[in-house]
Amino acid sequence: MWLVWIVLAVLGIKVFNKLTSGKCYDDTVMSGKVVVVTGASGGIGFETALELAKRGAKVIIACRNDKKGERAVRVITKLTKNKRVRYIHLDLTSLSSVRQFCRELSTTEAKLDVLVNNAGAICTTRERTNDGLLKDMQINYFGPFLLTNLLIPMLKAGAPSRIVVVSSAWHKFGTIDGIDDETTGYIQSYANSKLCNILFTKELARRLKDTSIVVNCLNPGQVNTSLYRSSTILEKLRSVLLYFFFKTPAEGAQTSVYVAVSDDCDVVTGAYFEDCKEVRPSAKAEDENLARQLWTISEKLVNLKPDEMSGVLT
Ligand SMILES: NC(=O)c1ccc[n+]([C@@H]2O[C@H](COP(=O)([O-])OP(=O)(O)OC[C@H]3O[C@@H](n4cnc5c(N)ncnc54)[C@H](OP(=O)(O)O)[C@@H]3O)[C@@H](O)[C@H]2O)c1
Repeated sequence: MWLVWIVLAVLGIKVFNKLTSGKCYDDTVMSGKVVVVTGASGGIGFETALELAKRGAKVIIACRNDKKGERAVRVITKLTKNKRVRYIHLDLTSLSSVRQFCRELSTTEAKLDVLVNNAGAICTTRERTNDGLLKDMQINYFGPFLLTNLLIPMLKAGAPSRIVVVSSAWHKFGTIDGIDDETTGYIQSYANSKLCNILFTKELARRLKDTSIVVNCLNPGQVNTSLYRSSTILEKLRSVLLYFFFKTPAEGAQTSVYVAVSDDCDVVTGAYFEDCKEVRPSAKAEDENLARQLWTISEKLVNLKPDEMSGVLT
């Protein structure tokens, strides 16, 4: 008898999750729009790019693995019949790759309508990149910080335009104290990077307030992707929880798509979303002084040059 109750409880949890998981019902058409999705070779990024291509956007798949990136282009083109999907190499562990990506994009596109900063990773080894930054911090935060700053002029040309930043509920455990300290544990470091995503969103929104560029961030929820592949502990936890609680990548992409296309988000800026609804992040993520402090540190660490700051107010 107890087995029946367990099965019923599991099914109940699954049905509850399906019913409460946010869905983007907005049917905005994206023809004529140019969109960049980072980390679109798999997981949430791939599903986000697929959905935006379905809506007719010209989609740039920005990722580090050429084979995976080109395969994503082929699959999305086949599924959507949208021929305006292309791949440009972007390795966020290299600041020169970020700069090269922006140069290449600007040779073919005159404007950008939506930038989705989705790429992310959990790095169990505490290593530094050739730029001297912690690898996970650079992939999840410093690389996107530089990328976004460099693309502001193109986003201004596409205005009204949007920047979408994929954060996580892990931001609640984050702090900015260990963002350049390699003794910080890898789970703490991931949480730190996700807090930085929100602080960055809020500070950038403040700096862009007199423009028609909006910037918002989100938590996609717990999603069954390869994000936890490098971590034995998290991988085990993931396999146990997978069936009960995790979203599919397509479900996980709903909030990114919503923030990128919905009319509801036309003039909303500096906000944090979950399940296609605006919610409050942690108190620390709303600390304006911390956000300003982080911006100053980030400018220094990515060596943002004066001509690269031209798009964003101080
Ligand atoms: N899955 C979740 O439960 C969850 C929860 C909260 C937040 N998130 C966030 O959601 C976002 C997407 O993650 P996901 O779950 O879809 O994970 P995923 O399946 O592992 O996808 C991550 C993407 O980022 C790319 N990437 C990794 N390192 C890169 C680099 N150095 N340069 C450029 N691209 C790089 C990956 O490329 P490769 O395929 O080449 O590695 C992949 O395309 C991340 O920001 C993550 O923090 C996920």
